[in-house]
Amino acid sequence: MYVLGIDTSCDDTSFAIIEDDKRVIGNTVFNQNELHKIFGGVVPEIASRKHIEYIEPLMRQFTGSLNLSLESIDLIAVTNGPGLIGSVLVGLSFAKGLSISLAKPLIGVNHIEAHAMSIFLEKRIEFPFVALVVSGGHSVILFFKDFCKYEVLGSTRDDAAGEAFDKIAKFMNLGYPGGVAVERISEGGLRDFVRFPRPMIDEENFDFSFSGLKTAFLNYIRKNHPTEETLKDVVASFQEAVCEVLMEKTIKAARRFSVKNVVVGGGVAANKRLRELFLEEALKRGLNVFFPSPNYCTDNAAMVAITGFFYYIRGNISKINITGFSRMLIPYN
Ligand code: KG4
Ligand code: ZN
Repeated sequence: MYVLGIDTSCDDTSFAIIEDDKRVIGNTVFNQNELHKIFGGVVPEIASRKHIEYIEPLMRQFTGSLNLSLESIDLIAVTNGPGLIGSVLVGLSFAKGLSISLAKPLIGVNHIEAHAMSIFLEKRIEFPFVALVVSGGHSVILFFKDFCKYEVLGSTRDDAAGEAFDKIAKFMNLGYPGGVAVERISEGGLRDFVRFPRPMIDEENFDFSFSGLKTAFLNYIRKNHPTEETLKDVVASFQEAVCEVLMEKTIKAARRFSVKNVVVGGGVAANKRLRELFLEEALKRGLNVFFPSPNYCTDNAAMVAITGFFYYIRGNISKINITGFSRMLIPYN
């Protein structure tokens, strides 16, 4: 079965074709990086207009490069939220049109769930597991009992981890995506140069809060005016604080629910220090931690396709009046 995945949740326009859950035949991500240079980040209204401009030619180019006719697609899976609503609606409307014109079933996929399921593009792992999804819009801990069956254990109360990286990078004019810049600058920096707070690390819940930590960083910079040499230490210390909180709370969730397997997904999961911290800690505590390859951590349509496939083979398809307001526990409608 060929599944076409479509993701336009933020500013990347992405298409993928997978064969069942076995093989990614193609996955293309068209980014709007040129615009980030002008605006220092994503401008929702511009992002959605660009999706409108690119989506159709990109799909033709993508399927053409694979020598695949649209008629050979068996299922269309599309992100129907959460995300920038204008952007989500472009992909969703496009997918509905395609579904009607090709007479193929359509399935709406929750973008956060898709980040957690992206691991299945490369590996088979056993349920139950705890998943941390960390992206520009979300920092969420989920408990997966089975395919398509999960509960939200906690989420961010303010800024997501990626958002905190993006905001401090913007403040320092380091470019977008901020997490990539933070990782680059932190390389070789002293991680204990500044002892930034670890918000909510000891609380008996699985929520996060990164807004205060971000402010602590900005205040430190304003007050201390670090040189180019010490800046890398300050940024590395900030990255360490974010990564440590993410790791500690996720591992705590795994222990609370007595699971052996932990999955980390979303754009921030591409971060080398986060991966290293998780792997070190998991080894100490006898847990298995799984990370998708970096290109499946950041937004991609292959993860949407495989999540849609898992719903479809369990008998779910979406109605054509599906909306773009998918919330955490309503993955399709
Ligand atoms: O999952 P994603 O591509 O899009 C959303 O669903 O938001 O995540 C984007 C976020 C951005 O905030 C970006 O700064 C962050 O992921 N990010 C990283 C890295 N690569 C992307 N954060 C830390 N280290 C990275 N290497
Ligand atoms: Zn995402």
